[in-house]
Amino acid sequence: MKIGFIGIGNMGGSILKGYAKSPASAGNEILIHDKTTENNHEMAQAIASSGFSNKNIIICNDNKELVAQSDIIILGVKPNSVDDVLREIAPAEGKLLISMAAGVSIAKLERYLNEGAEGSGDKAKIIRIMPNTPARVGMAMTSMSRNANVSNEDFALAKTIFDSVGIAEEVPEDLIDCVIGVSGSSPAYTYMYIEALAKAAVDNGMAADKARVFACQAVMGAAKMALESKESLEQLRINVCSPGGTTIEAVNKLFENGFMDDVAEGFQAAVDRSKEMTAE
Ligand SMILES: NC(=O)c1ccc[n+]([C@@H]2O[C@H](COP(=O)([O-])OP(=O)(O)OC[C@H]3O[C@@H](n4cnc5c(N)ncnc54)[C@H](OP(=O)(O)O)[C@@H]3O)[C@@H](O)[C@H]2O)c1
Repeated sequence: MKIGFIGIGNMGGSILKGYAKSPASAGNEILIHDKTTENNHEMAQAIASSGFSNKNIIICNDNKELVAQSDIIILGVKPNSVDDVLREIAPAEGKLLISMAAGVSIAKLERYLNEGAEGSGDKAKIIRIMPNTPARVGMAMTSMSRNANVSNEDFALAKTIFDSVGIAEEVPEDLIDCVIGVSGSSPAYTYMYIEALAKAAVDNGMAADKARVFACQAVMGAAKMALESKESLEQLRINVCSPGGTTIEAVNKLFENGFMDDVAEGFQAAVDRSKEMTAE
């Protein structure tokens, strides 16, 4: 299988690096093209040094050349460049196109292809994904939504790429704003929680570098337990709160100060902005 990456900045580059070092990429070819020429050579070196076979990396001179040689094309350019790239690469006949651009719907992607080559958007196989930055450490949460032209076989093939950098789940496209709130943007508010924990530890006498490790490991451990447990999140919380103990004091204070509502309101602000961006 030949997988082409157009735009290998923060997000596209993180997915590519994670994929290249996972067993899922073995035997496949990776084609890359980024407008910033240095990115191509730096990326080729980085993935080769992570163990991906050098002879299976192809740096393309332009997007058309990349599309002609790829089976799957992953678009990692900013939302405001997607229209130009799609008009440029249309018709991209028979290729599976995967876009991660926030606020760019499948209908828009089809329209841009049609503007490049009439009829190509209607026939195109398109998957829209919403990953998040923990892809860089192989812990992404990625949603995947497809148009009617994508077969189960094509979809399963694409899913192996995003499963290789974390967890990928199919969702209907109208849930993508919700995905932005719960996983796309949420690393930022999770960092806020870690920051508050670490700062409080420092205020109580711990060295800053130690406080960071303690706070991060507590969050990661709790998340891993929650992911693996069959118990409800509420029950997991209750399990840590012994009556008359320390944790119940912290939990009651957080409830009293509106912690749950604050998180829900922040989440909703991200969702509302995502809806606005789609409408723009
Ligand atoms: N960052 C996130 O947390 C996140 C989460 C979910 C989804 N996304 C989506 O991921 C996409 C990429 O975001 P990012 O933060 O990774 O952006 P980025 O770091 O700016 O990466 C985009 C790359 O694409 C290159 N590029 C621009 N036009 C191109 C073209 N015509 N052909 C080939 N390469 C081109 C850019 O080069 P130049 O710099 O030279 O223009 C840049 O290196 C966006 O659509 C965004 O909505 C991001």
